Amino acid sequence: MQKIRIIKSVIFASLILLFSNCNDDDISSNSNAELVTIGDNDYRPVVHFSPDEKWMNDPNGMVYYDGEYHLFFQHNPNASVWGPMHWGHAISTDLVNWQQLPIALYPDDLGNIFSGSIVVDANNTSGFKTGNESPLVAIFTHQNPDTNGQTQSLAYSNDKGRSWTKYTDNPVLVNSNEVDFRDPKVFWHETTQKWVMVIAAGDEILFYSSSNLKDWEYKHRFGEGVGAHGGVWECPDLFKIEDENGQETWALLVSINPGGPNGGSGTQYFLGDFDGETFTSSQDETLWLDYGTDNYAGVTWSNEPSNRNLFIGWMSNWVYAQNVPTYSYRSSMTFPRTLHWKNINGQNIIASELPTELIYAVGGKIAEVADASSNFALIDNETLKEGKFYLETTLDFNTINKAKIEWGNISSSVVMEYNKVTGEFLLDRSNSGYNFNNLNGNIMSCQYVLPDSNKLKISMLVDKSSMEIFLNDGERVITTLIFPLAPFNNLEITANEEIPFVEQIKIHKLSK
Ligand code: FRU
Repeated sequence: MQKIRIIKSVIFASLILLFSNCNDDDISSNSNAELVTIGDNDYRPVVHFSPDEKWMNDPNGMVYYDGEYHLFFQHNPNASVWGPMHWGHAISTDLVNWQQLPIALYPDDLGNIFSGSIVVDANNTSGFKTGNESPLVAIFTHQNPDTNGQTQSLAYSNDKGRSWTKYTDNPVLVNSNEVDFRDPKVFWHETTQKWVMVIAAGDEILFYSSSNLKDWEYKHRFGEGVGAHGGVWECPDLFKIEDENGQETWALLVSINPGGPNGGSGTQYFLGDFDGETFTSSQDETLWLDYGTDNYAGVTWSNEPSNRNLFIGWMSNWVYAQNVPTYSYRSSMTFPRTLHWKNINGQNIIASELPTELIYAVGGKIAEVADASSNFALIDNETLKEGKFYLETTLDFNTINKAKIEWGNISSSVVMEYNKVTGEFLLDRSNSGYNFNNLNGNIMSCQYVLPDSNKLKISMLVDKSSMEIFLNDGERVITTLIFPLAPFNNLEITANEEIPFVEQIKIHKLSK
């Protein structure tokens, strides 16, 4: 079996090389290129979760319980493309090292198991408790494969998520008016002492409440005339979020596909008020959580022990997810992030930061410059070549207008550029190796106005086939997949002037 897989990979690899060589003069003329074996392991991330094998999409049912972060996920255990959905399962104590457990939920007579959430029912409101542990209750969508009808159902575990029993009276919520009616996210609302469910319906979000997780009452609908509507709304999440002074507001995340900010799948959000039944927002523009093309269907952990809004997303895009050049498995998750409410230049936004657990992912330092210099270059570097590192740099735009960061080899690279005059940050992966579909020419961009300091701090986590780029503590984020055909061994930071602007830079290896 293993052998067949290896042979398959080699055949695929040869075909890809053949085609890319036909299409891309740069690669074929690159005498220095050490071509990597284009096998799954060259692209498999080391500090991000990816399934042992076969297909994965949305993160589901993330819950913390008794020292363990649980991550369930949309999973087809039979193929590396989307198919009948199950809930795969993994756990971690540090958000970096994940252990995959047996499949938690299998399709049944009511259908396949689409996305949903899990809560800790500490007061046993559901009556599902049998032993000493609090029941974990999963609220998920059953999808009928014949009609595509979607209803909401329950399953519970009394042994810390190790085994799951479906509720005998499933489904618990049916809505015949909506074709797309899925991805329930449930949380306990303190003030009303009720469970609240937010759920996607077409291109709107519906709100329900319940006292026992079994009987749900419709309350409210949100979405008409606000935000982006270029596709179906999916995987909502609603939570309280704090600013740095401890002031609180509510955030509603809504994934949308297609219609994302740089094509295909993306996640927008709304800031506003929630009274337990009704969500209101006076926001008049569309705000995006991530401007890269590869962060979708993300939601936050339930029962997070430090009350953080701890988020994880699926690091892919429905436009090409099933065609990326990994074959024994497909897709990984983003690195977990903490979400924060911030006011920048008079605008309320959600900033995403890497969590403190990043320390478990990061190892020894390979480069450090502490004084301003007019450019930075690390050429033919072994760590860069391995395709996994963490970089932090601060660029001073007081005397320059434009700076460029390029990570690549002699023939192909990923290019990032910030232009202070136009306020545009862009990432170009069009010549980064394996050819993607042509979403916006494979260029991602976002508008970002620098703070008064004119400084841009860039934090970048690179893990084999992904780059997660955070501007000024996550005021903008760009997450992107890349599949180099030969190792990227050079990194250069340059500007439009020969003036000191690289204030500091640190590059670390990853710990694994
Ligand atoms: C989002 C999504 C969800 C659905 C699941 C099916 O990526 O389409 O709306 O529940 O994937 O796998």
